[in-house]
Amino acid sequence: MLAAGQLILAFALASSVSAQGTGFVPLVQKKFDWGNIPYKVDTDVGLPRGPQVGYNICNSTTEGPESLCQTAVINSLDDFCLWAPPEPGQEVGAIEGEMVAWCSKPGHGTRVFPDGTITGVQFTKAPDYIQVVGFMDQTKINMLRGDAGGEMDPHGADLRGNPMGGVLYSQAFTGSYIQVMEWHNFNGADMFCLKACDPRGANDDKYCEHIYDTQGCGFNAPSNARDGVFESCASDNQPFPGQGVQVPASSLCSTFASTDIYGPSATVAVPIPGASTISFATSQNPRPTSAAASASGSVSGSRSGSAAQPSSTGDSDEGSALRFAPTPAMALLAAAVAFLL
Ligand SMILES: *[C@@H]1O[C@H](CO)[C@@H](O)[C@H](O)[C@H]1NC(C)=O
Repeated sequence: MLAAGQLILAFALASSVSAQGTGFVPLVQKKFDWGNIPYKVDTDVGLPRGPQVGYNICNSTTEGPESLCQTAVINSLDDFCLWAPPEPGQEVGAIEGEMVAWCSKPGHGTRVFPDGTITGVQFTKAPDYIQVVGFMDQTKINMLRGDAGGEMDPHGADLRGNPMGGVLYSQAFTGSYIQVMEWHNFNGADMFCLKACDPRGANDDKYCEHIYDTQGCGFNAPSNARDGVFESCASDNQPFPGQGVQVPASSLCSTFASTDIYGPSATVAVPIPGASTISFATSQNPRPTSAAASASGSVSGSRSGSAAQPSSTGDSDEGSALRFAPTPAMALLAAAVAFLL
């Protein structure tokens, strides 16, 4: 496995170098302002995994069940996206590079979760990241029943990301959309977690570590999420993934009825917990929601501890050994070539 993986890696990087000269840029280093996102973030040609499947300019024209939008957002309990397959029939692990954005509400030019997809979710805002962790009927978003799933992140063995060209934005950090450079999304076994690390933080790569791709949500994004409960909380930081699983204390939790925040009857725009200064600018949304901004959640007390949390999901990813890819592509290429010689 390791040798085969290294061969693939060497081939991918050698191909990228020969095809692109020194022009290959890892996805995690591609930065675009919200108003300046290109049609495709990944323009590489002639590489083993082929071209980017979808596109990154997403608007009312692209929105709907056929959307191939690969620009995702995570703003709040009621407004977030996950990466899921464009077509049914294959395990996530086989098509991580082709995932498209599915979102909890219209307005982002993406697919929208069919009613009943999300059955419980906790949104938390920690000092260094935001995340959604929860439960779903994964068959509603083109995943196979029982698929243990996989991990999406802006790295991947060939550094083109999973999905290739997939980018993530959030207004939860500053009130305006900024690109989230480090994130991870695990979907499988009817559970999901998407963590978006504050790009202004010094440790965004560590909180959104991408190498534990076989470990699932309980390990990478420990939370108090419970099926049947829809809540938005402030939270402490978790330990870095890999440095001990500990559910961070959450506080300022507000709970909602799913029908109030998702689907055609949604009337509530959920505020960011513990961030009273943040109000969203919706001007750049292609189709701003008409939902009233009158949050009516009931505030429950501070909670901490170890309520049910998604346990580790399996992963049919390309193998965790490949995930230990150092960032400078050239160093990696040198290492891979050395291996071949
Ligand atoms: C809408 O998105 C499509 C697909 O990315 C793009 O071709 C088109 O130019 C966009 N329309 C506008 C008005 O931005």
